[in-house]
Amino acid sequence: MEYQVKTGDILSHKTAALVVGVFAGKKMAGHAAQAADAASGGALSRLLRKGDLEGKAGQSATLYDLKGIAAERLVVIGLGDNRSFDRAALAKALGPTIKSIAASGARNATLALPFDEAGSPIYDLARETAITAAGAVYRSDSLKTDAKAPARPLTRLTLWAEDAAAARTLRKGVNHGKAIASGMDLARDLANLPGNICTPSHLADSARALGRRSPKLKVKIVEQKEMEKLGMGALLSVARGSRQPPKLIVMEYNGGKPSQKPVVLVGKGLTFDAGGISLKPAADMDEMKYDMCGGASVLGTLAACVDLELPINVVGLVPASENLPDGNANKPGDIVTSMSGQTIEVLNTDAEGRLILCDTLTYAERFYTPATVVDIATLTGACVIALGAHASGLLANDDSLADALLDAGTRSGDRAWRLPLWDDYQPQLDSNFADMANIGGRAAGTITAACFLSRFTKKFKWAHLDIAGTAWKSGKEKGATGRPVPLLTQYLIDRARVGG
Ligand code: BES
Ligand code: MN
Ligand code: ZN
Repeated sequence: MEYQVKTGDILSHKTAALVVGVFAGKKMAGHAAQAADAASGGALSRLLRKGDLEGKAGQSATLYDLKGIAAERLVVIGLGDNRSFDRAALAKALGPTIKSIAASGARNATLALPFDEAGSPIYDLARETAITAAGAVYRSDSLKTDAKAPARPLTRLTLWAEDAAAARTLRKGVNHGKAIASGMDLARDLANLPGNICTPSHLADSARALGRRSPKLKVKIVEQKEMEKLGMGALLSVARGSRQPPKLIVMEYNGGKPSQKPVVLVGKGLTFDAGGISLKPAADMDEMKYDMCGGASVLGTLAACVDLELPINVVGLVPASENLPDGNANKPGDIVTSMSGQTIEVLNTDAEGRLILCDTLTYAERFYTPATVVDIATLTGACVIALGAHASGLLANDDSLADALLDAGTRSGDRAWRLPLWDDYQPQLDSNFADMANIGGRAAGTITAACFLSRFTKKFKWAHLDIAGTAWKSGKEKGATGRPVPLLTQYLIDRARVGG
């Protein structure tokens, strides 16, 4: 999608669809709606009077060939209560609007919405516009043989600004939004691919391709042999159950001074999780192709760093493996030695995410001096039960890091919610035979998973995002969401102090 920001006379502006808003209670929102109404001899007022539209969020009506307006159509959309109009309300109203405009065959549209009357900064609204638009036109049909690209795709959106200052802020916002959206698209595309195509090797190839986008991004792959030398016994034990070789993807984005400590992002890249010998039930098992969404979000976030040219250093680490039941697979009760030297009793082979992550966290400690480390993983079904699809679970060994991530989630509309990481939970991981077990029983499953990881993160400020409930949607709308690319990118934008 191309974006333009314009100011001036909205009535003479040529566009396929001019979008104006109405607040709840039939209140015209902003100058554009009023100007369009006056020029058209009250077409909008009549629409409101007849009751076709009251301004509730989700409502819309389209008027054609209005006199006094150069636009081919006037799309009037409900924005909900004007007192609660903010970034989230805009997203809610805009998603279906963009979808229906795209379906109408309009090649371009102009949004003349009350950006200056919202409870969120104009920068946030512009960014949300670009992210919402990308989500609305996103399709995952590369594997359908009869898939046709739309004959008349919507390719250009223009944002109408009240004045030059607003235009500058809107421009910055859409540029940032575009970068975040394209990172989300990358994450969604990788995640929606099936396990037979998106293997660990495919993830590694995608990372290499990403590396070719910028000289600031260096990508290397740690292969199985090197993992063996490093003693990554936990990661390797998971990969033993599969015929696909594991890959540890290492991406270094150098946008800051060489002396600046990097933020290290660690993303679970489990390209298919059948559970291993502790086999999962068959129902909905296909969705375990999404068990690499953490890794995909790290690739997507680094893609956004490249696009935004963020002046900071970021390292992305993605351990990639399958978890399948093979003759050589982990068996319940097996004891493996992690790269840290700590031994782990694998009581359930389906708790594999923590096994591939723990060695990667030790790799981060060994080879980097991180400012902070954030791991992102579809780690526990328990997190879906606790928080559902709205918030990612957040656990951390540092309050300021946790607060920064919570703030980034709120600001970007990609929210997280903190759970405790008290020592009281640690004994649930006690093992009679090894330093720890890889499961902690049914109670507080998300917390004990984080407790497990915390044993490998003592040397740095660390946070864990459990995205099991937020990374993809099930059912009719099945598909990856691109989360938490917005949260992570916001966190990095905040650290780089380049936001709006
Ligand atoms: N990838 C799953 C977690 C998961 C399950 C995410 C369902 C989203 C939906 C993870 O590897 C796993 O299997 N976790 C187990 C842990 C348990 C064995 C302690 C789980 O959550 O059941
Ligand atoms: Mn599992
Ligand atoms: Zn898993």
